[in-house]
Amino acid sequence: MTEKITVGVFFGGRSGEHEVSLLSARSILANLNPQKYRLVEVGITKEGEWLSGEGVLDAFQQGKTAHLQPVAMFPQAGDQHLYRLNNGQYETFTRLDVAFPVLHGTFGEDGTLQGFLELIGIAYVGAGVLASAVGMDKALFKTVLRAYDLPVLDYQVFSRRQVEQEVQKVIETIETNLSYPVFIKPANLGSSVGITKCRSRSDLMEGLYEAARYDRRIVVEQGLEKPREIEVSVLGNDEPVASIPGEVVPGEDFYTYSAKYLSDNSQLLIPAPLTDEQTREIQRIAVQTYRAIDCAGMARVDFLLDRHTEQIYVSEVNTIPGFTQISMYPKLWEASGLPYAELLDRLIELAIERKADRDRTEFRYRREG
Ligand SMILES: Nc1ncnc2c1ncn2[C@@H]1O[C@H](COP(=O)(O)OP(=O)(O)O)[C@@H](O)[C@H]1O
Ligand SMILES: [Mg+2]
Repeated sequence: MTEKITVGVFFGGRSGEHEVSLLSARSILANLNPQKYRLVEVGITKEGEWLSGEGVLDAFQQGKTAHLQPVAMFPQAGDQHLYRLNNGQYETFTRLDVAFPVLHGTFGEDGTLQGFLELIGIAYVGAGVLASAVGMDKALFKTVLRAYDLPVLDYQVFSRRQVEQEVQKVIETIETNLSYPVFIKPANLGSSVGITKCRSRSDLMEGLYEAARYDRRIVVEQGLEKPREIEVSVLGNDEPVASIPGEVVPGEDFYTYSAKYLSDNSQLLIPAPLTDEQTREIQRIAVQTYRAIDCAGMARVDFLLDRHTEQIYVSEVNTIPGFTQISMYPKLWEASGLPYAELLDRLIELAIERKADRDRTEFRYRREG
């Protein structure tokens, strides 16, 4: 038997999706094959402190973290150690082979942690810095997709400053270019936080101020009336593949925060009831979207389907999608013939493969001969 791979599983974090991350981590920790992996849990508090020790996840879920020890890594190239703080001194705790960020949203899914892991030079699961950041930014993401002629709904981007200083002009621009309903969203957030569906000028005013609380940049998007919501899981590095599509049927007017996490009246349909042709088209666009942002490892690509015209639009991409056993990302793979534990094996392999590929890159000019 070859030596076990030490996987550092990072969860919790500073984003609004802290609790969701704990649920995803619970499933991942339970399904990483103990014959193959040695697991090291690293919990990140809502304040951003890294903690490790015994039963970290249980401690986080029970809110009893006092016995855990602060740990850290340092951005020194090649130093894959986790250090433990003991009496004011950092001492070596353990070395990680692969980092598995199970962190949704800001400071976990947006390229910030990925940048830190790049500086260290450790293999990590999922997308790199660029794809993480672009995938997180609803404005840049659409701009990139437009450049690739991939279908996205019309949109406008405004700054918080514009909203604060010339809201009338902003509203005029929106009404000239889009028609009601429109959706207003903070550019960099998830879980439907700060999102408003607007049917009138007064909704717009409220929605703009609401979104401005959460970000400096605000996306205003053409809305669809009760679109179908289709999701596809994509897996791979240079040769990404798409799962069968699934469908979310939100239990509320749209897929709001409460519909996602608080009520259980939303339904998942797997596979999504689509024609073969629609399925192929959606899978093709999912893979192209993944490639367009140079994604790696995994991503869930979400679509909106207009019920009247049957036109398909890419809505967003999640580079660290929900990962509980009842989450869409792993369920779509299971339905496509890839069981949960094997999906995790594949993600670890892809992380190692991507790191090896990156190590072949020369970062400085070397003269021949
Ligand atoms: N243009 C739109 N037309 C209709 N519904 C939308 C539109 N944009 C978003 N929604 C609804 O709002 C939900 C959340 O929007 P989304 O862009 O996916 O943000 P998040 O990153 O918070 O999930 C979607 O799942 C969908 O129900
Ligand atoms: Mg969404």
